[in-house]
Amino acid sequence: MARSALLNVMVQAAFKAGKGLARDFGEVQNLQVSLKGPGDYVSQADRKAEKLIRDELLKARPTYGFLGEESEEIIGTDGAHRWIVDPLDGTTNFLHGIPHFAISIALERQGEIVAAAVLNPATDELYTAERGGGAFLNDRRLRVAARKNLSDAVIGTGTPHLGHGNHGSYLVELRHVMGEVAGIRRMGAASLDLAYVAAGRFDGFWERGLHAWDLAAGILLIREAGGWVADIDGGNKPMEDGSIVAGNEYIRKALHDVLHRPIPGK
Ligand code: IPD
Ligand code: CA
Ligand code: CA
Ligand code: CA
Repeated sequence: MARSALLNVMVQAAFKAGKGLARDFGEVQNLQVSLKGPGDYVSQADRKAEKLIRDELLKARPTYGFLGEESEEIIGTDGAHRWIVDPLDGTTNFLHGIPHFAISIALERQGEIVAAAVLNPATDELYTAERGGGAFLNDRRLRVAARKNLSDAVIGTGTPHLGHGNHGSYLVELRHVMGEVAGIRRMGAASLDLAYVAAGRFDGFWERGLHAWDLAAGILLIREAGGWVADIDGGNKPMEDGSIVAGNEYIRKALHDVLHRPIPGK
């Protein structure tokens, strides 16, 4: 598997930040932690990782823009390119000693994601993709799962933070999906959830209330693994909408239909 120079820059930045996160993971009790909103934590580790990644990426391409979760967006002089980064996806897992978190780095060109790297530093699983070049887990080429029926499917999801407007509708969706599928998982790191769809570990996934940095890399991983991605209304704007429904062609459609099943009495 040959990687472009740009993807190599992204992978190097992810590994460098991953080392820091792995170190901090061993002593989370010493980290300063604050709350951004109910259940929404941020730590020194998130900020350190973002600074390191931003510096690495902008050193390689100083004119590109940069959108990261933990710092103000940098508008590049090169209007066509933007890095989209979640320096620590799964902060809650990280702070609880659960080894399921990731660094997610994507490169956008003219509004399209063209390269992606998602690294879980606790397991050394690296997911990469480039547009038209396929998706990989380390050196292994990925393909989404082939199951066609929801009744055989394991579906990942994410639960909204307390107080977020979509809590009530999420519970209805969850009840509908639970009635149709073989199993549901809530793992706690959206970028890895999407990587799991690309790897065929999850048959499908849905979540609302996400941001571009949660989604950008994972969307390319899924598409390059032969999967389908849409926003919750079936449109082509998951990053703008912050919602996603994903899977192979059949599971994405079936999941979409269950999520839009009318609520009795409404
Ligand atoms: C969160 C995780 C989680 C998802 C949340 C995200 P963070 O990202 O991806 O799985 O359910 O909506 O905010 O804050 O840990 O980077
Ligand atoms: Ca966060
Ligand atoms: Ca995130
Ligand atoms: Ca984050």
